[in-house]
Amino acid sequence: MKTHVIVVGNEKGGSGKSTTAMHIVVSLLKADYKVAVIDLDARQKSLGRYLENRQNYAKTHGLKLSMPEVHILQKTETGTVDEIEAQDLVRFNGLVEKLRGTVDVILFDCPGSDTYLSRIAHMTADTLLTPINDSFVDLDLLAKVDADTYKVEKLNLYSEMVWEARKQRTLKDRGVIDWAVMRNRTSALNAKNKQRVHDALTELQKRVAFRYIAGLSERVIYRELFPKGLTLVDFKASQKGVKITMSHVAARQEIRRLMDDLNIPHWQERSSVKPHIEKAS
Ligand SMILES: Nc1ncnc2c1ncn2[C@@H]1O[C@H](COP(=O)(O)OP(=O)(O)O)[C@@H](O)[C@H]1O
Ligand SMILES: [Mg+2]
Repeated sequence: MKTHVIVVGNEKGGSGKSTTAMHIVVSLLKADYKVAVIDLDARQKSLGRYLENRQNYAKTHGLKLSMPEVHILQKTETGTVDEIEAQDLVRFNGLVEKLRGTVDVILFDCPGSDTYLSRIAHMTADTLLTPINDSFVDLDLLAKVDADTYKVEKLNLYSEMVWEARKQRTLKDRGVIDWAVMRNRTSALNAKNKQRVHDALTELQKRVAFRYIAGLSERVIYRELFPKGLTLVDFKASQKGVKITMSHVAARQEIRRLMDDLNIPHWQERSSVKPHIEKAS
């Protein structure tokens, strides 16, 4: 298949980019996609570390765990702004061109701030996924919402950046960026706020041309496996020593729904259920 580029981005830290990215990567690996990860958050490297933990865990426990190719792209440190951006662009293009045609999917995990590397990654996206926390503070990066009616008044920073990326992309190769926005860490509490954010996103998607898709709930299972480098996608229901709870079943369904909603080429035919963890022979 033609290499498909997924960018997980939002200029906000802690919205769940790296966590969501990890679950997408493992879901793709399980469906036999060849995946390369480019971690652009060279400061926190959360996704890089998650995957490093995975590699180490597999080694120490004799497990055969599928891995993506992992790259951490640091930004150029010295020079004028123009020189730094020129250097960043050369290194970015060099890496992406090397990976295109050799992997099925390139996934970028972006930092929670506006950087040049993050901006050019957005321009190369075929699929852009933006997780936001279930809050008007996070929504504010996308658009200003009227205090009384919750109607969308104007686009804000991040939406403007994506708008610009889309424009650049059309100019470059007439490509289209499919932008999906999901809520992360939703909880059963504060139903009123949840409904309002939902209503605002439903309205906003028409204005900004993104698809508002179902996201992930607040669940311990999405964070507790980080030290092992595993996700619930790695376990099969009958796995020895793994107690599958109702919350795990629901989490599995959320991830599956997210993957279905992302519309990644060939996903449906490649993602039939398969056991994942095997002992290394
Ligand atoms: N759906 C979720 N349920 C529970 N904890 C989550 C969920 N998503 C993210 N987290 C936790 O929230 C924190 C921030 O998530 P992270 O993926 O690192 O965000 P980002 O990459 O956007 O900065 C981490 O501690 C992570 O484990
Ligand atoms: Mg992160």
